[in-house]
Amino acid sequence: MKKILVIHGPNLNLLGTREPKVYGKTTLAQINRKLQNIAKKRKLSLTIKQSNHEGEIVDLIGRAKKKFSGLLINPAAYTHTSVAIRDAIAASGLLTIEVHLSNIYSREEFRHHSLITAVAKGAILGFGEESYYLGLEALADLI
Ligand code: DQA
Repeated sequence: MKKILVIHGPNLNLLGTREPKVYGKTTLAQINRKLQNIAKKRKLSLTIKQSNHEGEIVDLIGRAKKKFSGLLINPAAYTHTSVAIRDAIAASGLLTIEVHLSNIYSREEFRHHSLITAVAKGAILGFGEESYYLGLEALADLI
């Protein structure tokens, strides 16, 4: 069974109550349950992590290379700032899909640039929680 690592970046633990007009009312636990259901159907094994700490995310990706076949990541605010997470993904060589709940290009200008997309296979954004599910389906098809 192929293994996928899912990483939720900073503040995504607050989903459900965090700016619901932007991010929806679904909690992270609900999203994770749905991801596990999709994984079961697609015969994938998922390990799901959430961290508010850049270095911890770098460590998770650094250790993932041998264990996992793919990475589904919402780097959240680090999307726009983290050379370290970008470098970790590039170094891992993992097939990576970047996801965002919101359409970062229709929001504030500082969100218009992602440091991650260039090292990802692709990005899915703007579909709310559906972005995660589409991202996982895409990974399942590609790995
Ligand atoms: C986000 C978009 C980011 O700009 C923001 O910092 C987040 C969430 C999204 O999923 O829409 O925390 O990655």
